[in-house]
Amino acid sequence: MSFLPQPHGGKLVQAYDPNFDFSHIEKELEIDVIALSDLELIGVGVFSPLTGFLGKADYESVVENMRLTDKIIWSIPVTLPVSYETAKALTIGEEIKLVFQNEVYGVIKVSEWYEPDLEKEALQVYKTNELAHPGVKRLFERGPVYLAGDIILVKKSEKGVFGDVWFEPHQTRALFEEKGWKTVVGFQTRNPIHRAHEYIQKAALETVDGLFVNPLVGETKSDDIPADVRLKSYRALLENYYPADRVQLGVHPAAMRYAGPREAIFHAIARKNYGCTHFIVGRDHAGVGNYYGTYDAQLIFNEFSEQELGIKPLFFEHSFYCTKCEGMASDKTCPHTNEDRVILSGTKVREMLRSGVLPPSTFSRKEVVEVLIEGLKENAVV
Ligand code: ADX
Repeated sequence: MSFLPQPHGGKLVQAYDPNFDFSHIEKELEIDVIALSDLELIGVGVFSPLTGFLGKADYESVVENMRLTDKIIWSIPVTLPVSYETAKALTIGEEIKLVFQNEVYGVIKVSEWYEPDLEKEALQVYKTNELAHPGVKRLFERGPVYLAGDIILVKKSEKGVFGDVWFEPHQTRALFEEKGWKTVVGFQTRNPIHRAHEYIQKAALETVDGLFVNPLVGETKSDDIPADVRLKSYRALLENYYPADRVQLGVHPAAMRYAGPREAIFHAIARKNYGCTHFIVGRDHAGVGNYYGTYDAQLIFNEFSEQELGIKPLFFEHSFYCTKCEGMASDKTCPHTNEDRVILSGTKVREMLRSGVLPPSTFSRKEVVEVLIEGLKENAVV
């Protein structure tokens, strides 16, 4: 008997068929790197119960109510943007090859195409229509028409340096079962793991069987630290400071939306599909700039029952090292003021790392910082 949660919607979608014969299909559509990643995530079941890119009714329902038309919770539209010209040349019901850099990765059976209200999508999903928001900017740039339909994944992307830490939900579920974990907490990050992350991960691990460190390695904004550099830092950290039998590293190859609260729900659902029973939501989860309140991404969970969501969120207050407490703490556990606390903004830290300045060990482990500085130097040369 398994203690892991059922996949979202009840069944793990498996739409990968490397033998699918698409030789009879002539039409092809060049897709971008985000659609490529969405295609694979749908195909391997990370986005269960989605079986394709959203149709109009589901899209509108997600934008307005954070639910698919069958009422299943879904907070971020997964769509395939195209141009008007492309859309007009299509026939409903036909199959089209989805191509990236001259390789066919998938096939979509066109069920419809429609013009989304992008302004509304921006305001509902991102809570802003400002183009300074990276998710909103991308939304408006990507295309005026959405193409919908079920997909077949015919080819998976090259995994490169991520090969040994790239698991599909059926694999993570098997791994967790093998380890005998009945409860597993998932951790999302698009950053290197600093002391605050480590603190909340380990605090969570105190109460569950296993920790799934699941950094997002899909498309991020250009000033975030590149995923390959981050990966080296995760490996260094886990090797030195985490118990191997309680922690599993695996990447989450999704694009970052920076949609704050709505993305926290989206992140939790993906982790449920990977087999996690719990999910960490700390301060300003998936946020950017000052678009969301510090704990908005926690408050949004009040809109759904834990039973319906099927994964338990674990909330953490803003954490930091306090020199008076002489340890990691949070607003909840530390009586001192900011003057005694080591608090550095992400932007500040990235600046320090890029100019080779070491952030203090109370902010980030030495092993992590060294790998980051080295990695960023190499990246700068390329
Ligand atoms: S995110 O965009 O992937 O959410 P980030 O990598 O900064 O961003 O955060 C990963 C997770 O750690 C999120 O759940 C976030 O809320 C949490 N987190 C980040 N920094 C802190 C902190 N100082 N205190 C508490 N939680 C934090």
